[in-house]
Amino acid sequence: MARVFSGVQPTGEAHIGNYLGAFRHWRPDPEHMYCIVDLHAITVEHDPEALERDTRFMAGLLVALGLHEGSILFAQSDVPAHVEMMWLLTSVATVGELERMTQFKAKARALGRRAGIPAGLLMYPVLMAADILLYRTDEVPVGEDQKQHVELARDLAERFNRRYGETFVLPKPAISPVAARIKSLSDPTRKMSKSDADPDSKILVTDPPDVIRRKVMAAVTDSGREVYPSPEKPGITNLLEIMSGFTGRPVEALVAEYRDGGYGRFKRAVAEAVVEGLRPLQAELARVLADPGAIERILAEGARRASERAEPVLRLARERMGFPAVRRLAAGALP
Ligand code: AMP
Ligand code: TRP
Repeated sequence: MARVFSGVQPTGEAHIGNYLGAFRHWRPDPEHMYCIVDLHAITVEHDPEALERDTRFMAGLLVALGLHEGSILFAQSDVPAHVEMMWLLTSVATVGELERMTQFKAKARALGRRAGIPAGLLMYPVLMAADILLYRTDEVPVGEDQKQHVELARDLAERFNRRYGETFVLPKPAISPVAARIKSLSDPTRKMSKSDADPDSKILVTDPPDVIRRKVMAAVTDSGREVYPSPEKPGITNLLEIMSGFTGRPVEALVAEYRDGGYGRFKRAVAEAVVEGLRPLQAELARVLADPGAIERILAEGARRASERAEPVLRLARERMGFPAVRRLAAGALP
């Protein structure tokens, strides 16, 4: 059985890119772990109250997807082993490779020189590697944008094993063949992103039907009228991927049905596919969020089980690096 680990940042909202590229591939299974990576959320400026609220919301969303039943669902900051493992891994990571990460470059550029780049933004992928390696993960189901980070985790694991002895399993990214990179509705050359300031660029999983319809109808497309995927038609290609993602129908089947009917007819069909695709999730989410106490209990239980799995791997990594476990245990016994 492959061991699976994935994570999502609690940033207050989730869009259909997150859903189609990641969540929908996550399965309730005893070998699967899903983590709300709240420590990653402080690598850019954040509001402490919002972080707590958003962590509960994101956990609620994963509960609504049924992931608490069977798999381990927890918040990263509840398991201190992640932070300790991250520090150990900094010994095998180089500043050069971290500076070359696409996401770092984009976010650092957005902040600009004057604001200063938080050191955490550079270390982000090392913490992510710690998340993955702590659980001896085989597969990491993520959207295309995270592939580079998972490959870095694999490189760090390999380097650590070579330098200190066999310790980590080498993980690999698991990327969906369809909808792995959903684009912005207002600029289909860029990915749909939580951090985009334009609310019309993304459809949130919590958007009501009329908002979804309005956003899809307003989505940027080119001036043609035939519906088919092509690099010259990034907007239409994106809408085809979205519709295929929600209906499970291959893009070719959609092209056969909508090619000559004009953009208006096609967009109305896309909007209905999204509305219907999200309906059951939205109903379940409303039910789950009505009981915040239950979400807290699920996270507490998840943290307990995650810690049990993380501890032996952390202990092994510490020992390999020359931090003897016996001394730590002895220190724990001191008054
Ligand atoms: P994040 O919102 O950055 O925490 O991402 C959570 C998950 O959603 C990760 O697996 C991402 O790769 C995936 N994801 C984020 N944006 C997109 C997108 N536009 N298309 C497909 N997957 C995405
Ligand atoms: N960096 C990921 C993202 O933005 C979130 C993440 C953190 C993650 N740790 C992880 C994903 C471990 C998979 C595995 O989407």
